[in-house]
Amino acid sequence: MAATAKQSGDTTILIFGASGDLTARKLIPALFRLSQQGYLNARSPVIGVARREKTDEQFRNELCESVMKGQSSAEWDSFSQRIFYRRLDLGAEDDYTALLEQTQTIEQELGTSPGAARVVYLATAPALFDDAVRGLEAGQFIPQERSLADRLRVVVEKPFGHDFASASKLNEQLRGRLSEDQIYRIDHYLGKETVQNILLFRFGNAIFEPLLNRNHVDNVQITVAETIGMEGGRGGYYDTSGAMRDVLQNHVLQLLCLIAMEPPALFQAREIRDEKMKVLQALRPGSKDGIGAWAIRGQYSAGLVDRQPAVAYREEDRVPDSSNRETYVSIHAEIDNWRWAGVPFYLRTGKRLPERITEIAIQFKHPPLNLFSTVECDGHLCDIVGARRNELVLRIQPRESIFFRFSTKRPGMQYHVQPVAMDFDYEDHFAAELPEAYERLLLDVIRGDSTLFTRSDELLAAWEFVDPILQQWESSSAGLEHYPAGTWGPAASDRLLSRSGRIWREPTAE
Ligand code: BG6
Repeated sequence: MAATAKQSGDTTILIFGASGDLTARKLIPALFRLSQQGYLNARSPVIGVARREKTDEQFRNELCESVMKGQSSAEWDSFSQRIFYRRLDLGAEDDYTALLEQTQTIEQELGTSPGAARVVYLATAPALFDDAVRGLEAGQFIPQERSLADRLRVVVEKPFGHDFASASKLNEQLRGRLSEDQIYRIDHYLGKETVQNILLFRFGNAIFEPLLNRNHVDNVQITVAETIGMEGGRGGYYDTSGAMRDVLQNHVLQLLCLIAMEPPALFQAREIRDEKMKVLQALRPGSKDGIGAWAIRGQYSAGLVDRQPAVAYREEDRVPDSSNRETYVSIHAEIDNWRWAGVPFYLRTGKRLPERITEIAIQFKHPPLNLFSTVECDGHLCDIVGARRNELVLRIQPRESIFFRFSTKRPGMQYHVQPVAMDFDYEDHFAAELPEAYERLLLDVIRGDSTLFTRSDELLAAWEFVDPILQQWESSSAGLEHYPAGTWGPAASDRLLSRSGRIWREPTAE
């Protein structure tokens, strides 16, 4: 995995699609923070590239407005002197030759070392990826010699494809001109500190790993819950995507891989990604019956979120009023391998749920003998009071934490069982703020470490799993259930678990 040394060599960063929202919201703030922390040196230019004519000064002012809310600082001023803007029409191959010359000029001005790596961040619509890599080839950005290949790194944003076929096509387009090692497919979840900690928690401690298998685990629940709806005009994009493509196919399946994978032989990109890939290869529907028996979808209707009225999805800006797009999805999956055979993995994600919470909850089996199930309490036989399964919860966000729930005897004359938790809270232990996902991921690209990026086979395997579900959903509206905004999703999702006597964890109960 990435080195910890601060120095990273000179690097030129080109952002294609620089007028888009991602540049100002995520990329520039992350690069600025890296520069403040000494990870990005003064010989590393950041060149915004887009179609419109703009001067460096205009671009810097726009960024200052959105990143610094107009309040410049000495640090920002010094950083922004390394930000440039160049016009380019992504489809015009000649423009790339000019861009290479302009890039070289800027590099000379800043004293960037001649062999420095160039990172091209494609913050554009995926439909333009092909044009961009063609242009990079025409403009001679792509090193011809194999030994120099690492001097160009191309970062691509999601959505990476719409389904298996389009993702394969996109891959072919990129791979026609770039090698796999030059392509960095971003899934920002992998940049989250708490997500990176999953592997360290599992393989850096001796006591948990022996428990994580079918002998001890009853089920695993992965939740990515959001309270937001379609703010910021996202309805147009979201209606072509939905919860499955937007979050489950990528973020949730990546979390699943990390919690389920075997220990890698080495803690390096290839070995880690090989193990993640094996999980995806073993991923199966949780039922042999039709898709409706293991994949549930829902769409929010009007309701209350955080005590504020929220309109129905179909009433949202840029969403067709007859839309059948899912804003919630839950899946019962299984991993058919030696470690996990027979253990249900319940996955869910949705918009307009009651809380913003991302977590992985591992629920353990009940003790083989329930000595405390019928104890006498207050003069009558009662069930084990408040008994719950042992649970190990990795809370990814917010209130980043890890806690383990177990039963204890409530003090008193009876055997009343009380579930309690041992917990570790990031905030209590680490004073510094957790780094933003984009900071970490951009630094990894700068260092040429692809561990936290999705390899093409992983991506295609994830599409392969969700494709049949999407095909069925898009061919008929049957099974689309509405849930009021501010609730935990459609009733069918509860039935997914209740038929085997299980229930969803209610994360808000913590
Ligand atoms: C993005 C999705 O990839 O992830 C968004 O497109 C979603 O719809 C977001 O809101 C969630 O990310 P985070 O980091 O806020 O959990």
